[in-house]
Amino acid sequence: MTECRICGGGVEEFLDLGRQPLSDAFLLPADVDTEFFYRLAVGRCEACTMVQLTEEVPRERMFHHDYPYYSSGSSVMREHFTKTALNFIDTELTGENPFFVEIGCNDGVLLRTIAESGIRHLGFEPSVGVAKVAQSRGVRVRTDFFEESTAREVRESDGPVDVIFSANTICHIPYLDSLLRGVDALLGPNGIFVWEDPYLGDIVEKTSFDQIYDEHFYLFSVRSVQAMAARFGFELVNVERFPVHGGEVRYTIARTGARQPSPAVAELLAEEDARDVVELETLKGFATSVARIRDELVALLRSLKAQGKTVAAYGATAKSATVTNYAGIGPDLISYVSDATPAKQHRLTPGVHIPVNPPEVFTASYPDYALLFAWNHAEEIMAKEQGFRDAGGQWILYVPEVRVV
Ligand code: SAM
Ligand code: TMP
Ligand code: ZN
Repeated sequence: MTECRICGGGVEEFLDLGRQPLSDAFLLPADVDTEFFYRLAVGRCEACTMVQLTEEVPRERMFHHDYPYYSSGSSVMREHFTKTALNFIDTELTGENPFFVEIGCNDGVLLRTIAESGIRHLGFEPSVGVAKVAQSRGVRVRTDFFEESTAREVRESDGPVDVIFSANTICHIPYLDSLLRGVDALLGPNGIFVWEDPYLGDIVEKTSFDQIYDEHFYLFSVRSVQAMAARFGFELVNVERFPVHGGEVRYTIARTGARQPSPAVAELLAEEDARDVVELETLKGFATSVARIRDELVALLRSLKAQGKTVAAYGATAKSATVTNYAGIGPDLISYVSDATPAKQHRLTPGVHIPVNPPEVFTASYPDYALLFAWNHAEEIMAKEQGFRDAGGQWILYVPEVRVV
């Protein structure tokens, strides 16, 4: 057993996804020999129920000047974050000279709307490449990791914060003790800390095991977040579900007693309990389904190859590193991955080294089948690539089950 990063309790491992590369390290051929690997396994704390990885990858290996994920690449996500920002402006940022902080602001997909409204703000973003894009959009960025010390510095220089927001970043941060002490130091007395991440309830329901990779250190549930908040002097006062990125929950915590909890918290907690989401038996059953899906996907790809069909993939996602490396799916089964991100193109995917091509290669000569690694953007991508279907192409999906559509 390893020790829980939140409470020190015993973490029992329930799924071993093997030796894995950094999920966002897209390689030049010259870098293949020096690739970094670690063991990807996930367990659950028997005391506080937090689901977490058992091995931590040093943060500087993942988040640096070449970090290749640009949040603004999806129109659905741009819309989601614009709406989120406008909603905060209307509800929480109505006082005199409000102050908004975002942890992991990336290319400014959300903060650009706050900046355009002239509201005092600051984004923490250690990955300098994406941070520069945010700055070019008028966003104020500090190119540091958010943690206790950097949060205290901002409190000293800029004063208390009304809203600290974060999307798809808090689950990346193993050192949540330091982070929450930083939130405590920075937040005003009636301030809120709001964050959204992939939801364990959705991951279990859809067997979306590709949500597990180096950057996703925690798989949050309402139960585990409530316990964590209480440990650090906060209270979980709201939860909201969103369909983005395969199913997420947005958690709102406030200082204990400062805000009336919404009934949504008790409701989702009751649903989680009724489904036994955080029970070890459920998680072991999830692990069994993961192995079955891997076997079915590999069998399908091998059979298509035997029939002489051409198969490419769509979306060089961080998630796909888990699938390809766990299942041993390499360039023999997938000829290339199409991705619109320049920073990933003309490189090789982590671990299994499938070439990444721009979408023009895909549209110039459609394969017979396309494995949709970016299944969380299915609607957007399938609409954009309607020509593929019109030409007789078929999509392969593996969440929640392996199927051809
Ligand atoms: N918020 C964006 C979104 O939802 O699309 C970006 C999500 S991206 C998957 C995670 C971002 O968090 C990266 O840009 C990374 O550099 C940043 N990050 C990682 N650790 C961080 C930390 N401790 N403080 C602030 N940002 C961090
Ligand atoms: P994500 O699932 O982590 O958001 O990653 C999605 C990946 O898919 C990212 O590398 C960008 C790529 N992508 C496209 O190539 N075309 C698209 O239309 C969309 C939405 C994403
Ligand atoms: Zn624990």
